Amino acid sequence: MPESCSSCTHERSRARLMPFGVHLVCGLPIVTRQRQKVVPMASGDVVEIGFGSGLNLPHYDRDRVRHVIGVNPDDGLPTLGRKAIDRHDLSAELLVESAEAMSLPSASADSVVVTYSLCSIPDVEAALNEMRRILKPEGRLFFCEHGRSPSSRVARLQDSLTPPWRFMAAGCHLNRDVGALLKGAGFALEQYDVFDLGLGTRILGTHHIGVAKLR
Ligand SMILES: C[S@@+](CC[C@H](N)C(=O)[O-])C[C@H]1O[C@@H](n2cnc3c(N)ncnc32)[C@H](O)[C@@H]1O
Repeated sequence: MPESCSSCTHERSRARLMPFGVHLVCGLPIVTRQRQKVVPMASGDVVEIGFGSGLNLPHYDRDRVRHVIGVNPDDGLPTLGRKAIDRHDLSAELLVESAEAMSLPSASADSVVVTYSLCSIPDVEAALNEMRRILKPEGRLFFCEHGRSPSSRVARLQDSLTPPWRFMAAGCHLNRDVGALLKGAGFALEQYDVFDLGLGTRILGTHHIGVAKLR
C-alpha cells in the first residue's frame, strides 16, 4: 500500500480551499469599490482575463455589454465562475485556458477587463501580448490591480516579500509595476491612477487602476 505523504495531503487541501479564499478576499467591500471604478466602462464583446469566481459579473453595464468571455486556467476557480454565470442575467461563457496562450481570434474583443489578476499570471508579459492581440484596434483594456508602490522604500520591501508571499498566496506578486508592464506591451495609458487604499499597508494596498488603448 502506498505511504500517505503528509505534505501532498496538505498541498491538496490548500488547492481545494484556494478558490474559496480568493472569492472571500476579492469580494471584500473595499475591493468591490475598486472594481466598480472600471468594470461598468466595458462595452461590446468583452474578454475578462482571470475570471476567478465571477465577481465582476454584477458590475457590467447590461445596456453596453453584448457578451463576456471569462478566461481562467483550471485551478479550481472555474467551478465557482460557472456558478456565477448561471446566477447572472448576462450573456457569458467561460474559457478554461491560460491568458498566456488564448485560443481567441485576433482583434475580436471590444474590451479586455483584468482585475486583480496581473499579479498572479505567471508570464505576465506573454499574457499582455495576448491581450493586445485579441483587442480590436479601437478597443480598450480596463484594469484594476494591486501592485508596485511608487515609494522606493515600500517597493524594496515588496521585492523582498514577494517570494514568500507568492508561495502563500497562489502565485500572487506584490511588486508588479502595472503601468510599466502595460507600456512595455505596447499599450498607451489613457487613464491611470496609482494610489494607496489606506489599509495601513502600502505593500498590499497600492492600487493601479485605469484604461489603456493600443499604441
Ligand atoms: C486574485 S484572483 C482574481 C479573480 C478575479 N479577477 C477578481 O477580480 O475577483 C486571480 C485570478 O487570476 C487567475 N489566473 C492565474 N493565472 C492565470 C493565467 N495564467 N491566465 C489567466 N488567469 C490566471 C486565477 O485563476 C484567479 O482567478
